Formats: sequence, C-alpha cells, structure tokens
Amino acid sequence: MHLPDLNIAKDRTSKENKYIELNENYKKVFNGQKYFLRTYGCQMNVHDSEAIRSYLETLGYVNTEVIEEANLVVLNTCAIRENARDKVVGFLGKCKYLKKNRDDFKIVLAGCMCEQPDFIESVQKNHKYVDLVIGTHNIHELPKLLLELNQKQTIEVYSNSDEVIEGMNFKRDSKVTAWVNIMYGCDKFCTYCIVPYTRGRERSRKLDSILEEVRHLKMNGYKEVTLLGQNVNAYGRDIGESFANLLEQVALTGMERIRFVTSHPWNFTDEMIDIIAKYDNIMPYIHLPLQSGSNEILKKMNRRYTKEEYLELFNKMKERIPNVAITTDIIVGFPNETEEDFLDTLEVVEKCEYDGAYTFIFSPREGTPAAKMKDEVSMEEKEERLQRLNEVVNKYSNKNNQKLLNKVVDVLILGESEKDNTKVYGYTDTMKLVNVIGGKELIGNIVKVKITDAKSFSLDGEYVEEKVAI
Ligand code: SAH
Ligand code: SF4
Ligand code: F3S
Repeated sequence: MHLPDLNIAKDRTSKENKYIELNENYKKVFNGQKYFLRTYGCQMNVHDSEAIRSYLETLGYVNTEVIEEANLVVLNTCAIRENARDKVVGFLGKCKYLKKNRDDFKIVLAGCMCEQPDFIESVQKNHKYVDLVIGTHNIHELPKLLLELNQKQTIEVYSNSDEVIEGMNFKRDSKVTAWVNIMYGCDKFCTYCIVPYTRGRERSRKLDSILEEVRHLKMNGYKEVTLLGQNVNAYGRDIGESFANLLEQVALTGMERIRFVTSHPWNFTDEMIDIIAKYDNIMPYIHLPLQSGSNEILKKMNRRYTKEEYLELFNKMKERIPNVAITTDIIVGFPNETEEDFLDTLEVVEKCEYDGAYTFIFSPREGTPAAKMKDEVSMEEKEERLQRLNEVVNKYSNKNNQKLLNKVVDVLILGESEKDNTKVYGYTDTMKLVNVIGGKELIGNIVKVKITDAKSFSLDGEYVEEKVAI
C-alpha cells in the first residue's frame, strides 16, 4: 500500500523517462465485462481518461453508458475546488448503493483527489466499499492492480514522480482533434492551488517523442492537436528545450491546427509570441489566466506578475498576433480581498474585453498556503462579486461574438450536434463554438461558415463551401 503525502509531493530528485508497455498476458482477461468511466476536472484528466479507456479495453472490458450494467466503475476525480470533490463524493454514494449484493461490481478511484491525504483517510474510514485507489503518477499500473484485486481495499498512490512516462496508449474520444501531453506537473505553487501537490513537479517529455506523436496523429487523419501542460511556457526548462522551439517544430509537421493550454503570463516570451504570429497553423487563441487584477492579491497568490505586467503582455499579444482571441481565469474572494481589490479586477476585465472567462470563488484547499490565511470576507459578498464579474465578462464575450455576425469564418467540424440532428458543431480558429446547419459528411473538415447568429457562449452558422486544400 502507498499513501499520498503532500510534503513529499513537493520534491523531485531526479528525472528519467520511463517507457511503458502492456504485459501481453493481460490482454482480454476481462473479456465481455463492462466498464463505466466518469471524468471530472480539466483537460489533463480528460486525456488521462483516454489512457484509462485504452487500458480497460485492452483488458477486454467494453464501455457502457449505463452504470447499472457495469462490472467496473472508474471515477477520474478532480481536487481543484471543493465542489469538484462534493460531486465525486455524491456519486460515490450511488456506486455504494449499486454495489450492494453484487460481487461483480468493482469501484476504482483515480485522479487528483486520490493524491490528497485527507480524502484517502476518509476513503479508508467511510468508503470501505471502494476496491482500488490509484494516483495520477501510476495510471499505467492500472491493469496490474485490477488483476491483483482481492477483497481488501487497495490504495496505490505515489506522492511524487521523477518519471516522464512515454509510450502510453490512448483511446481518443475524437478522430479529428487530439490532446498531446508535452509536460507533467507544475512548479508554480500559486498559494491557492492544489495542482503542484496532486500532479508533482514540472517534467517535460522529450521533443522527439512529442513530434513523433503529432506526426503519427497527422498520418491517422487528425486535423488538430492541443499541446497540454499546466504551464506550457515552462516546457523544456528541465531538459534544455524551449516551448517556442517546440511550437515551431510542431508547426513544421504541417498539422492543420495547433493549440496549447495553459500558458501562465509569467515567462511568456516575445519569441513565443513571434512564433504564434508567424505560423498560420498555430491558432490565434491564447488562454491567459489573470486570477486577479489587484497587485496586492496577485502577490499573495504568488502569481509572479503585476497588473501592469499582465496588461503589457496582453497588449503585445493583441498587437503582434493578427485577430488573436484571449480568454482567462479569474478567482474572486481570495482571503481578505477588499472591494478595492475586486474593482481592480473589474478594471482589467474592462480593459482586456476578454473573448471569454472562467470565473471561480476561492475554495480553500487543505495543504496549500492560502487555506491557512485569515479571511474576513463573507460568502455572500463573494457570491455577489462573482455575479458582478460575470455580468461584465458576459458583456464582452457577447460583444466579441457579435463582431463575427455575417462574416464567413473557417470552422473545424468535430461532430454532430447533440440537440439537433440537422446540425453539426465545430470551432473557429479563435476557439469559438459554432453550431452549423449541415450534414455529418462535414465532420473532420475545415469548412467556410457564414455566421448567422451570435450569443454569449456560441454562434450559429451556415455551411458555405469546402475550404480548398492547400
Ligand atoms: N495551470 C492552469 C490552472 C489550472 S486550474 C493555470 O495556471 O492557468 C484552473 C483554474 O482553476 C485556475 O486558473 C484558477 O482560476 C482556478 N483555481 C485553482 N485553484 C483554485 C481554488 N483553490 N479556488 C478557486 N479556483 C481555483
Ligand atoms: Fe495551479 Fe498556479 Fe500551477 Fe496553474 S500555475 S496549476 S494555478 S500552481
Ligand atoms: Fe482538477 Fe487535477 Fe485538473 S485537480 S483541474 S483534474 S490537474
């Protein structure tokens, strides 16, 4: 048994690349059994779930969307805010009920919550019916651990990892757009954030492995890749590489659309901006989390930039990258945030006129420095600030969307619309969601779409003509 420890999670002693291969004897052992997988949290988790699916299906499990039919339930959890945790705990209650009187019903917990010692304690005490807990660093051990399961609860969570895992297989959700990990972990230690503890220290994949993966995806018909890291600007610092070079090399593979998330405003270099501006296949879309517009709060958050530095970077991006769209993340109600601090945030939002923003109320995470800070601001006040912020945010996303009305834009069509089978959906180069009148044959193509209606969170459009291949 291995239990998580937040102090150990902060350390990293060496780095090595570990190549994973699945034991041939494991294939198909669970033939015909069904699994139900639910994913919470960010793109990292969504992509990790693609690895989990691949392992389970190699073992012979088949997917079901009906939990009552399943023999195995896997919850890939997120720890970023308390409400993410509440959702998982709520769903666990349902799993417990379904497991009653059934020997063939196993429950597995994976993901970031499993790296939190207080959660693991509660699993041991209150959720004894959970069969297996696996951490974020050892997903590749899932087949072995499933085969070894017995009546006792198994907890295999490592607190840190020096390894960079290579050679993972993924059962990708899409045949058009793909996630590509470029690095794992985060070294920024923003004082509110649990991620450096749940995902470990920053470690980069090798440039060649990433390029090979992108080329392979291109050969298999993928039109878009999104390079994934908690802070992609930091890519390569541990292995003598740079994100600017990686981005350029990926652009040179000829992949039609290249995106990346997330970039921290700190150490976003001019070179990176120039590369984004230079290549047409690097999409003009940047997610640039602000978190707060108050210098006082930014300092307490350990964000390493001031409001002025943020605005300077923002303006540089707008000037140098034609037609760039920028979105952001904002936290309100950080401990002792004053009305003045909050107004500073609103002022930055007014200046930046973001294309979109994810807004959150600060949620204390046990083990992080901010969770220990005294806080006199009431929840009522925080909720009111969130509402005021959202009004301004929505005003600008709507305004930016309106600019596209009656314009013809390129949209990469990803799939059929769930609500309306006469429509498909896709994204503009600037990452705006468009519902398009058109048939399934458009899926996987970048097509011209005339925008006929613009709302705050999506656009409607009509297919005009297929883009001529270059
Ligand atoms: N690596 C990414 C962040 C991933 S978490 C980055 O730095 O941009 C996504 C967002 O969740 C963060 O940008 C932040 O706005 C929010 N968040 C993180 N910890 C939080 C907390 N304790 N309470 C509320 N929001 C939080
Ligand atoms: Fe969390 Fe900050 Fe790292 Fe983002 S950069 S994952 S907010 S510690
Ligand atoms: Fe959540 Fe872990 Fe992502 S805490 S936001 S799933 S890195």
